[in-house]
Amino acid sequence: MTERITLRKPDDWHLHVRDGAMLRAALPFTARNFGRAIIMPNLLPPVASTRDAIAYRDRIHAALPEGSRFQPLMTCYLTDATDPDDLEAGFRDGVFTAVKLYPANATTNSAAGVTDYRAIRPVMARMEKLGIPLLMHGEEVDPEIDVFDREAVWIERRLIPWTRDFPGLKFVLEHISSKIAVDYIRSAAPQVGATITPYHLTHNRTDWLGWGNRPYLYCMPVIKTEADRRALVEAATSGDPWFFLGTDSAPHPVAKKLSTTGAAGVFNAPVAIEQYTKVFEAAGALDKLEGFTSLNGPRHYGLAPNAETLTLERRAWTAPEEVAVEGPDERALIYRGGEQIEWRVVHD
Ligand code: NCD
Ligand code: ZN
Repeated sequence: MTERITLRKPDDWHLHVRDGAMLRAALPFTARNFGRAIIMPNLLPPVASTRDAIAYRDRIHAALPEGSRFQPLMTCYLTDATDPDDLEAGFRDGVFTAVKLYPANATTNSAAGVTDYRAIRPVMARMEKLGIPLLMHGEEVDPEIDVFDREAVWIERRLIPWTRDFPGLKFVLEHISSKIAVDYIRSAAPQVGATITPYHLTHNRTDWLGWGNRPYLYCMPVIKTEADRRALVEAATSGDPWFFLGTDSAPHPVAKKLSTTGAAGVFNAPVAIEQYTKVFEAAGALDKLEGFTSLNGPRHYGLAPNAETLTLERRAWTAPEEVAVEGPDERALIYRGGEQIEWRVVHD
């Protein structure tokens, strides 16, 4: 049995660290174990210009623990009114790594997202020319569509036509949640890659809803069937380079999670690398872990892997239940909080 495993330092290709007090509470968990992270721009108001992104990046740097070399990779929140010239300037100046598309009202803080898919075509054409990847919350939010089918319809209705219309544009379908998405990625790679979260690899919708409603498993895209979960595990552990780590760690204050309309999002950064390791071990695929956590993502983005390493060992520890958040937010509960976590990151 493997007792210890050393990886190139992982990156998180999909992360919400929020702002203000929540940023200060959440960021250290990611900065500790990851070299870089793609920072989601769904603040209120969103990070939708070069100026916004520079200011947000400064706030992230200010919230980093002393001596941390963690690097935030900034994204631009796409709206119907995104200015391709501002985006180009921000990309050329090294501010933006990618653009993030939220369909309006698909998920947390997406009200300012895209409503007019014709209006964004000039931006997509510019991105294709410059080599800026388009990251998608790939769910069609037409009320006619069942919530469990949103991802499949998005692929059909948006993504397949776009890969033809913009053959030089690189895409990431974020937090894939279904077998349909896995099969699609294999047909569209390497133009389209995908991130996979620890919770979509671990849970099915019976875990979420079958034994009481568990609001802490509520996220977008919603968790699907056991067959979907198995397809995701098979994809992540296959070694195929178009699948890579993106935690979608997304803290919310308790009051927002446990409200009559509860917020979508799972705060998993404190146990994320440990949970992925557990999933890969259960699949007998620890030899494929490093590709998924540390090599495939940089390759899709055209970046070098991290030079440093991270070591995990099989030594149980108890995950904290929550983090304290200064001010009115008070606290955020942690995924697997209070549970025995099987793998531990070795920090000297
Ligand atoms: C994310 C959040 O809370 O910002 N929530 C989620 O359920 N995944 C947004 C997102 O990525 O959809
Ligand atoms: Zn997300």
